[in-house]
Formats: sequence, structure tokens, C-alpha cells
Amino acid sequence: ALAGVAPTPPLGWNSWQPYGCGVTEAQVKAQADALVSTGLRDAGYRYVVVDDCWNASTRTKDGALQSDSTRFPDGMSSLGEYLHQRGLKFGLYVGASDKTCTQYQGQYPGATGSRGVEQRDAATLAWWGVDYIKADWCSSNGDHDDQVAAFTAWRDAVRATGRPMVLSINPNSGVSGMPPGQRFDWGGVATMTRITNDIAASFASVLGIADVVGLVTPRTRADAFNDPDMLVVGQGLSAAQARTQMSLWAMMAAPLMIGTDLTRLSDAGLGVVGNQAMLAIDQNSRVVSGAPVAGDPQVWSRAIGPKGLAVSMTNRTSRNATVTVSLASLGLSGDGVVGVDVWTSKRYQAHDGVLSVQVAAGDTALLEIV
Ligand code: DGJ
Repeated sequence: ALAGVAPTPPLGWNSWQPYGCGVTEAQVKAQADALVSTGLRDAGYRYVVVDDCWNASTRTKDGALQSDSTRFPDGMSSLGEYLHQRGLKFGLYVGASDKTCTQYQGQYPGATGSRGVEQRDAATLAWWGVDYIKADWCSSNGDHDDQVAAFTAWRDAVRATGRPMVLSINPNSGVSGMPPGQRFDWGGVATMTRITNDIAASFASVLGIADVVGLVTPRTRADAFNDPDMLVVGQGLSAAQARTQMSLWAMMAAPLMIGTDLTRLSDAGLGVVGNQAMLAIDQNSRVVSGAPVAGDPQVWSRAIGPKGLAVSMTNRTSRNATVTVSLASLGLSGDGVVGVDVWTSKRYQAHDGVLSVQVAAGDTALLEIV
């Protein structure tokens, strides 16, 4: 991987969920301003990532990438400066195969993928002041070796620029069978790797992704994170469900990329993504992923440095329920064990070797064991 660029998981905002292929410079600047005015920048959300469809449908006559001049009238250097002046970092999308994803899907003209010209494109992005590259993959004819070669070429091209840049990869779209993010450990190649296909703004999608990421948790380390995709807070999840996504993503030491229009996010939504205690768990200096406990998808535990433990207890059902976990399965013992729910500050004491918590429908209690 690219050493030193992400000692803890990258945090930021991404244009794809709210704006898709219509993304404009004005929207991105407004979101950058909102990161500042809401306090989310100061809470740690620094990367502003322009996803697919920023590019013109052709390269320059010299073969360089260029931005769409209608939607990005001032161009990418200028956008990078705008972000840097506000203490933010600049993320930009590339297609790691022959085309970008929307080009493969026939939703966007041209063919400006980077396969074979990774060095040149990395140099262009570095020149523009890019700090984070999202390299996507949608070629259905790509076999595994092709993907390894393409993403490794990106890693080497980023190194060759001499500019520290996060390399965020999605090897999954357009490839049939088990997603390559799950099949293969990309930690030697990328800063962060999507494990599943795209998240949908539903509780079922959030839980389904958690279950799959739960299978590959030992891969997580500094500069090599499992990416469970964007936070869909503000996109139709209930407040309880939003807390569950935030809790599970923090337990995973996941990159947190907000996928919503921040100018319209409710105070409740802001309170979830900006929750200091959650961010402290996500960004904990002991960079490991938590994992499901004893095969129960409702309970995850994560070591917290230097010798603490966080335990998330999720109620996946649509009615209030009691969620329990045995102390033995957490490696603990004794009736003196107490967990404090980080969301509510409620204290729970173990009895008869069991921690037992009432959790509302769709919600999560995230206990720090004290
Ligand atoms: C597929 C990715 O999974 C999405 O996050 C987004 O980048 C789209 N491609 C863009 O086409």
C-alpha cells in the first residue's frame, strides 16, 4: 500500500449519492462550505471527493484528462485551490479500466479510462493538487490478473508522482461472481478497498454490507482499510438505523464518506455523522477492525487502545428487543463488568455472566466497557 497517507481511516464527502452524473463545481464548492460551517471539517471530515462524470468526453489533443468545461468552468486546479484554502483535501475519480463506469453503462459519452496511461493520469491529478484518487472498475471482460495489474499500476503511478495521495479502489462493479473486493486482499495495493457492490439507501443494504465485511475484518490495518461504501445517513434511514450504520462503520475502522447533500442534512443527521465519541472509535489509534462475536451478527466487539473494548449491540428487527452477549465470548468475566452506551451514556452492568441491553427497533447501543 501507500505508506503513511492514512494512519487512520479517511473521512470526507463524496458526490455520487447526491449528484450522480450531474455533479457541478458549484455543488462541490457548496458542500465544501457546508463541511466547514457545520463543523464536520473540524470533526475530521477532510476529503471532498468528486466521483464519476467530472471529465470531458475526450482527452486533450496531447492525451491528458480534462474536466467538463460546462459543469466545471474554472477547472480542477482551481477547485483544488478552493478546497485547500479551506483546510480540505481534494478527491477525484478515475476509471481504472478502459472507460469510467458510467461510460461502460452507456450513460456518459467518451472513453477516458486510464488503463495503460496510469503514470500520465496520476501526474495530471498530482498537478491539479489531488490528495485522494478513487479508482473504479466496470469492465466486465476484466479478469483477476488484469485488475491486479491495473490497480498496482495506479499504486506505482501515485508513488512516482511523489505526492501523498490516498488510493481508494472499487474492483467490484461489472465483474461477475463473488466481488473481487471480498475474494482478494488488496491491502498491498490500495489505501482502501470496496468489499461489496454499491450501497443502497436502505437498512437491509447497510446490514448486508456489514455481514460481508464481517468476513474479512483481519485485513484492516493502517493504510489498508476495508471500505463498506458511503454513509447513507440523510437518505431515508430512520434515526435509529443511521446510528446503526455509524456504529458499525466505526467498529470496522471504516473510511467514512458522507453521501448526502450536507446543506439539507437535518440536525439529527448531523449529530450522527458528527458524533465525537463515534469518530473517536473509528479513528482510534489502535487501528484494527472489530468483528462479529460468536457468530452473532447483532454483536460486534473491537479492541480500543491501549487496552479497552467496544461492543456494539444492534437490534436488527422492527420492534424493541433485548440484545445479549455473554462475557465469556468477549473474553471478560465477573459481575463488576459495566458497559456505557456511547450514544445515550446509559450504564449496563453484567449479571450472571451476561450483558443484556434493551435496544429500540433498528438501533444500536455501542458500549464502552469500563
Ligand atoms: C460504481 C461505484 O461503486 C460507485 O461508488 C460510483 O463510483 C459509480 N461506479 C460511478 O460510476
